[in-house]
Amino acid sequence: MDINFFEKKAKRGPQVILPKDVGLIATYSGLSSGKNVLDAGTGSGWLAIFLANLAYPGKVHTYEKRKEFYELAKKNIESSKLKNIKIHNDNIRKAKIKSRYDIITLDLQQPYDLIKKLDKNLKEGGVFAIYSPNIEQIKECVEVFKELGYETKTFENIVREWQVGFSSRPVHSGILHTGFLCFGYKKGAEKTKKK
Ligand SMILES: C[S@@+](CC[C@H](N)C(=O)[O-])C[C@H]1O[C@@H](n2cnc3c(N)ncnc32)[C@H](O)[C@@H]1O
Repeated sequence: MDINFFEKKAKRGPQVILPKDVGLIATYSGLSSGKNVLDAGTGSGWLAIFLANLAYPGKVHTYEKRKEFYELAKKNIESSKLKNIKIHNDNIRKAKIKSRYDIITLDLQQPYDLIKKLDKNLKEGGVFAIYSPNIEQIKECVEVFKELGYETKTFENIVREWQVGFSSRPVHSGILHTGFLCFGYKKGAEKTKKK
């Protein structure tokens, strides 16, 4: 995919997940070529596109309930030219999802309610990656993960860009807080002990 895709081509509707946070999502979810991902809500489709670019030939299924955001994300996906993303105009809370995934990413309100519903759709050893601008929602997620026997890790990722040359220093404008990231690790299949 073109390196300038996100800066120059992709359109923004709802708040998008930025590259600095995608880096953490990719690292701590173990995202790599061939992994299959379930994503909700699609919003502008930025996260889904980042994920699909890294997971190819694995597939990303992404759910967006609002028609106008679905249309916007669909255009972004088409202009990315990636063929391994399937976008669904559907409410993830009501959708009947049968497949099982390596990674499930959630960027919507009340993600904690969805963890129990989607637990059956996450493979053994799979990872939930939850993004939320506020820590209260993350605390609720951690409670649910504990109840289900998941391990967790939580991060805030602050990145400062610098101008380097004469009088090097951090650039004057920039984003500090975007959101918190919480990863929930599902236990792997029990190994049969050798006698
Ligand atoms: C903050 S945006 C996601 C942005 C996206 N991660 C990106 O990088 O472009 C949250 C989206 O979730 C959608 N949403 C909220 N609840 C949903 C649900 N139950 N099912 C599907 N989409 C939902 C909203 O309509 C909104 O577009």
